[in-house]
Amino acid sequence: MVEFNLPPNSRVKEGKTFKAPAGAKRVKSFKIYRYDPDLGENPRLDTFEIDLDACGPMVLDALLKIKNEVDSTLTLRRSCREGICGSCAMNIDGTNTLACLKPIDEVQGDVKVYPLPHMPVVKDLVPDLTTVYAQYRSIEPWMKAETAVAANKERKQSPEERAKLDGLWECILCFCCSTSCPSYWWNGDRYLGPAILLQAARWINDSRDEATGDRLDQLEDPFRLYRCHTIMNCTNTCPKGLNPAKAIQDIKNKLAERVL
Ligand code: SF4
Ligand code: SF4
Ligand code: FES
Repeated sequence: MVEFNLPPNSRVKEGKTFKAPAGAKRVKSFKIYRYDPDLGENPRLDTFEIDLDACGPMVLDALLKIKNEVDSTLTLRRSCREGICGSCAMNIDGTNTLACLKPIDEVQGDVKVYPLPHMPVVKDLVPDLTTVYAQYRSIEPWMKAETAVAANKERKQSPEERAKLDGLWECILCFCCSTSCPSYWWNGDRYLGPAILLQAARWINDSRDEATGDRLDQLEDPFRLYRCHTIMNCTNTCPKGLNPAKAIQDIKNKLAERVL
C-alpha cells in the first residue's frame, strides 16, 4: 500500500501520547505524523511532550531527542543540521521548511510535524523522492561543453557571468518548493516543478555550458514547464530565500525571446 500525505489528512487520527518527565517546567507538545507500511494501518498523530529546558532550540533537536530518548522507531532524514543538505525538509506548523532551521519558539501552541505534502510516504517523516530525482536526472544537471580547453586550465567566467548564477547555485534540493506547488501536486508526474526548473535555470544561465539551446528545447512543453501558473507558493516557502518562480519566468522569457 502506498500512503500519500494529502493534507488536510482526515485519515490521521490521534495516536499515542508520551508524557513529559515529572517535574518538567517548560513543556511543549509535538504532534508527529506516524506511518509504518509494515503495520498495514492508517497513519496516526502521536503526541510527545518535551521539556524545553532539556532540549536544543530547533525542531530537529526535539525530533532527535524523541528518537534518542523516547521512541527510537521515529523515522526521519537529517544530516548536516545546518540548512545545507536539505534532507530534513518537512511540514512544520503548516509550512514546508527545514527542521534544523525552524526554532521551536516560533511555533505557537502544539508543534505539528508532517512529511512533505503530496508525496508518497516511505515511513513517518520520510517521503519517497524517487520521482523528483528522476526528474532531476532528466534535465541533465552537469556541464556540457564541446570546446576544448588547454590541459590543466579552467573554463573562465567574468564576474558578470558568474553573478548570473546567484540565486540559483544556493539551492539545496530540499523540495520544500515543489511540494508546496499546487500545479506540482496535481501534475507531478509530468510537470517538473519549481525545484527542478530552478536547477534547469542554473545550467541555462551558466556561460560555460554550451547546450543552452538543447536545454530550452527539452523544457518547451505544455507540462514540463508551462504548468507553472505563477502562484508563488514556491518562493514563499523556500527556506533558503530563493525565488524559483522568477527562475521559471526567466526560462519562459528566454523561450519567448527565441521565437521573436
Ligand atoms: S509559481 Fe509556479 S512553480 Fe511556484 S508554486 Fe506557483 S505554479 Fe508552482
Ligand atoms: S528552491 Fe529552495 S525550496 Fe526549492 S529545492 Fe531549492 S532550496 Fe529547496
Ligand atoms: S539536516 Fe541538513 S538541512 Fe536540515
